[in-house]
Amino acid sequence: ASNQMWGGRFASGPAAIMEAINASIDFDRKLYAQDIRGSLAHSEMLAQTGIISAADQEKIAHGLNTIAKEIEGGTFAFSKKLEDIHMNIEARLAELIGPAAGRLHTARSRNDQVAVDFRLWVKDEFNRVAAALKDLIAAFLDRAEEHAATVMPGFTHLQTAQPVTFGHHCMAYVEMFARDLSRVRDAIERMDESPLGAAALAGTGFPIDRHRTAKALGFREPTRNSLDSVSDRDFALEFLSVAAICATHLSRLAEEIVIWSTPQFGFVRLSDQFSTGSSIMPQKKNPDAAELVRAKTGRVNGHLIGLLTVMKGLPLTYSKDMQEDKEAVFDTAETLDLMLAAMTGMVRDLTVNEAAMKKAAGSGYATATDLADWLVRELGLPFREAHHVTGRAVALAESKKAGLEKLSLEDLRSIHLGITADVFSVLAVKNSVASRKSFGGTAPAEVKKQVRAWKKRLAKA
Ligand code: ARG
Repeated sequence: ASNQMWGGRFASGPAAIMEAINASIDFDRKLYAQDIRGSLAHSEMLAQTGIISAADQEKIAHGLNTIAKEIEGGTFAFSKKLEDIHMNIEARLAELIGPAAGRLHTARSRNDQVAVDFRLWVKDEFNRVAAALKDLIAAFLDRAEEHAATVMPGFTHLQTAQPVTFGHHCMAYVEMFARDLSRVRDAIERMDESPLGAAALAGTGFPIDRHRTAKALGFREPTRNSLDSVSDRDFALEFLSVAAICATHLSRLAEEIVIWSTPQFGFVRLSDQFSTGSSIMPQKKNPDAAELVRAKTGRVNGHLIGLLTVMKGLPLTYSKDMQEDKEAVFDTAETLDLMLAAMTGMVRDLTVNEAAMKKAAGSGYATATDLADWLVRELGLPFREAHHVTGRAVALAESKKAGLEKLSLEDLRSIHLGITADVFSVLAVKNSVASRKSFGGTAPAEVKKQVRAWKKRLAKA
């Protein structure tokens, strides 16, 4: 049997393998609600502009609402023969309302139909990601407020660099996830245009009202070029790239949690709710959730490269290749939602070991820069010379297997005669941190200011 949608010029139906490679219903059924919304808006516009009768429109709307209930109730029979969600719904509409169903596809093609459905879906998902990001940022703000003065080592090259506070470290993630949030908002702004009415690729001779359907579907305005409307998947690529950058942030955080929760570091302890044990080693508490967040980032990044590669060789306008856009986006959405939720849970639940952080903050000559800064400030040494003097102090301390603050005044004066007992005040971790009051610095007062500012900003974001 030939196809009921285009059987006119076909003598036979497709080979089984053709059907298998062609069908997208197994994944694009996810778009059913968007497809029905799009069809309702389209049919209302067709009736309003006199292209179809009000009576036919009523039948169409009634049929579409019935189909929505059937799908939601699990009684709808999806058919692979009908290829995709668009044709599954239209075929069922014909069963339900007869010939009027055939008028729905006037001035429309599956090309603009799938473009509008997918945009609606991606826009909703962008909004879900925005809400999840706000939850994660809120969790970090709470932890930052609580630990604005908790000292820990700051690292470069994963080598102890200078003391910072855990609150400041949390606020670094607030900045990162807030940029992700703003990328989501920007992307929504750019994609907020309706391709419906571009028809197959060239527009239509029917007197349709694209502004009307755009508004009905909650888009800011219609797209301006019919060719671009059906061949553009930038919104999907932007979703995937926003997701990849966000996942990369989550993965770096996951890596820090993995490191921090080792017995060797012991900076944090994960709650029982967000860790697992070992079937053989009774002492183990493993950061599986963090490791999986780190690993799933590979999958998210892969989807971005996958769709970029699908799109890169396509001539305008629609090619069937573009059907491959959906699984990448659906899987990324599901994965990212899960990653964000798991990370928010971990951040809220983890226990901070202040004593271990403090001990580590005081080791590794973390206050060497403070000594150099003191030499500049109090003795007027050029920074490069102060750096050199401090290096010798570190070498001396190292030879005595002691911290800088454990050197005697004589030890220090043997390196530079100008040094006085006042220097010991800056060698203490707490003072080091408190002195870094420059805008955006790690001083607890500065961290608290940033927390306050972000709480206000987040309420409006
Ligand atoms: N299932 C198709 C997709 O997801 C719908 C559009 C089909 N259009 C076409 N001209 N074959 O891309």
